This record gives sequence, structure tokens and C-alpha cells, in this order.
Amino acid sequence: MRVRAPTPVLSRLIWYGRAARLAFEDPVEAFDRGMLRLVRRRDSGAEPVEPESAWGFETVYSAAMELLKAQDLAVGRGAFGGWDDADPAFARAVWCLTVHLQPRKVVETGVARGVTTRVILEALGRERSGHLWSIDRPPLDRKLHAEIGAAVPESLRRGRWTLMRGTSRRVLPGLLRRIAPIDLFVHDSLHTERNLRFELTRAWGAMNGAGALVADDVERSSAFVRFVDDSPPLDAVVASADDCRTLFGVALPRATPFSGRA
Ligand SMILES: C[S@@+](CC[C@H](N)C(=O)[O-])C[C@H]1O[C@@H](n2cnc3c(N)ncnc32)[C@H](O)[C@@H]1O
Repeated sequence: MRVRAPTPVLSRLIWYGRAARLAFEDPVEAFDRGMLRLVRRRDSGAEPVEPESAWGFETVYSAAMELLKAQDLAVGRGAFGGWDDADPAFARAVWCLTVHLQPRKVVETGVARGVTTRVILEALGRERSGHLWSIDRPPLDRKLHAEIGAAVPESLRRGRWTLMRGTSRRVLPGLLRRIAPIDLFVHDSLHTERNLRFELTRAWGAMNGAGALVADDVERSSAFVRFVDDSPPLDAVVASADDCRTLFGVALPRATPFSGRA
């Protein structure tokens, strides 16, 4: 019997049902539980991975916030010309994945003041290996250009980081052709259905069936849920920002080997 694809309205309801569950859970605990399950399944047989990977995150996140404040920059939601700085829960997930997976090649879209950029670079620096390529389309307001990457100190700017200006649609395909396979992809740029779907599809295609995908603000469209449902077997967890105003998603291939050094 053929199973009919759910209508857009039904998909939306299923999606909100999944998201609503999170409102009743502590976001950090829920995420730890969910990610632990995913990583354990991926690692099947390997060392159990504990949420203690979050160790060191608070220091790194606080340092990023302090550096922004030292430059008299407001931080938080909408602080960068209407774009949000990465909230602690999303940044913490990115930190945990980078620490656990020890990726050789990381690609992120959407830099703004560079909170996730800093978190990834600090985690890579801890292992003294790996490279991050960040793609950002600078905002039209030129006054904001000087703020791009403001949370990234000089010491982290050389060696492991390549910042590429332009839209992900223009820059991502060529970059991935050049550096594939990648091990970790972080989406935090334009959160439309079309753009998120485009980025996830391209990034997954550059992963050789292994690696991890993270996307912020997945409640803005059904792109993340649809991508996970339609793609080759992926396990995914959706978790809430610390202030419960947005959701982010993490997807990993189901029980397949990882190409990084983990
Ligand atoms: C939500 S902010 C990124 C926050 C950042 N990840 C952090 O950790 O604070 C989104 C950024 O993506 C940029 N952007 C918007 N549309 C884009 C696109 N199509 N491609 C690449 N970057 C884009 C915005 O100018 C902004 O700098």
C-alpha cells in the first residue's frame, strides 16, 4: 500500500506537535538527553559520550559576551541589525558537537558578531586541529560591517579560520566542491524554507554519509523536519533556546561511521 505524503497543513501540525513537547522539558536537560542518545547510537560500541563535554563552554561563551560588551556592543536577540546573537543553548550544542566529533572540516553559514564562530574555533583549538570556513552575507547597513566577527579575538583569527563574504547560495556550492568531505555543518544564516533546505541538502551531499548538521531557528519553516524525514536515515533532535523563543535542530546519520578523528 502506498503511504500518501502528509498535506502541508498536516506536516505543520506534526511539526508543532513535536516542538510543543519541548516546552514541557528543561531545554538544556532535554537537549543533553537527546544528543547523548544520538551520539551513543552513532558511536555504538565506542566510549560512551557524556554531557560533560559541555565542560569549558561557560567560560568560552562568557568570554565571547565580555568581548562584545567591551566594544560597547549590545548582545542578545536582534542585537545585530535585527539578527540574533547565538543563544547559549544553540552555542552549547555547537560546542558539544565540535568537542565530541573533533571534526577536520567545519562549515558554518551566518557569522554576524561570531558567537558560534568563536565557540567552534575555541573547540578546534583545544584539539589543535581542524579548520572552520564561515560564510556570511554582510548586512546592507554598512555601519554593521565592522561588527562582523567581533566576538572572535585576534588570537583565533589566524590559522584555523577562513571567512567568506557572500550569500550561502552563491558561496557554499563552490566551497563544498573544493573542500569536501566536511564533518560538521552549522546553519545560522537566512532561515527561509528554501535557503535552509538548500544548505542542508548541499552540506549533507558533501558529507559522504557521515558528519553532523546543526541548524538554528528551525521553527521558522518545516525545512529541517522535512529534510530529516526525506533524507537517508538520519537521527535528529530538536531543542529549545534558553529563553524558549526559538528551536534548533541537530541531525546525525543513523549508526554510520564518522569520517573525523573521533
Ligand atoms: C543569526 S545571524 C548569525 C549569528 C551567529 N551565528 C552568532 O553566533 O551569533 C545571521 C547572519 O547571517 C547573515 N546572512 C543573512 N542572509 C544570509 C545568506 N543568504 N547567506 C549567508 N549569510 C547570510 C546575516 O547578515 C547575519 O550576519
